[in-house]
Amino acid sequence: ILLLSLVSAPSLQAGDRAKPKPVKKGILLVTFGTSVPEAQEVFDRIDAAVKDRFKGVEVRWAFTAKMIRLKLAKEGKITLSPSLALARMAEDGFTHVAVQSLHVIPGQEFHQMYETVMRFQGMPKGIEKIAVGSPLLAATEDLLRTAEVILANLPPERKKGEAVVLMGHGTHHPANVYYPAMNFIIQKMDPEIILGTVEGYPEINQIKEDLVEKKIKKVWLLPFMSVAGDHALNDMAGEEEDSWKSILTKAGMDCRVVLTGMAAYPRIVEIWLDHLAEALSHLD
Ligand code: CO
Repeated sequence: ILLLSLVSAPSLQAGDRAKPKPVKKGILLVTFGTSVPEAQEVFDRIDAAVKDRFKGVEVRWAFTAKMIRLKLAKEGKITLSPSLALARMAEDGFTHVAVQSLHVIPGQEFHQMYETVMRFQGMPKGIEKIAVGSPLLAATEDLLRTAEVILANLPPERKKGEAVVLMGHGTHHPANVYYPAMNFIIQKMDPEIILGTVEGYPEINQIKEDLVEKKIKKVWLLPFMSVAGDHALNDMAGEEEDSWKSILTKAGMDCRVVLTGMAAYPRIVEIWLDHLAEALSHLD
């Protein structure tokens, strides 16, 4: 024992100086955020699914929307921006972090988040490596999988000849093309399903014209968004005259709304988790 301690003591000291930080892997889930309590429940289920699949890896969250962070702060709920979350992870000794976007498309929100988080890679005494997982829709396979989940979760009461209108967010960012691409894929599976967007192409007026032309009498409105938040509640299902429900009702259609965001479907969460697994594999 004496010999061992004599031998090991100096080598330990020498090793100490050059010793690299012990590897500590973490996961950071990034979402736009929500102040709707039902949507927070959906996030809690995603949190549980991530912890279940990637056992032993600590999971943290960041919200990109400052407005939502401030609103939650007023209610006493502290949430962090991606920058603050990563700064804290660096402080807490994380060396490798997989950041998973819970966005739907790689639009402006995703790209800004990507740029921000990558700046935290390689700072002195900071995080050595960061890998970012793709949002829900990235490769064609993601669109096919998503379309199948949507189809499998349509309201069972919907009958043949009744249309389904999906409300996507839409953006001025070039990644808006994911919506018409998704529309193409889903219409191959069911021609009575049509996807529109609030802020991009296709717009609700085009959708309305299509439905009128097809002589559709009944429409099911569903959010094509991760959670049924403000857009779903107001722009889609609201009572104001510019809501999708009002516009289509005015055009003579009987509208039914479903307020379930895509993140409520476990098979959609699985797609995000597959992207996270890919990001984690890049950390090794
Ligand atoms: Co919006």
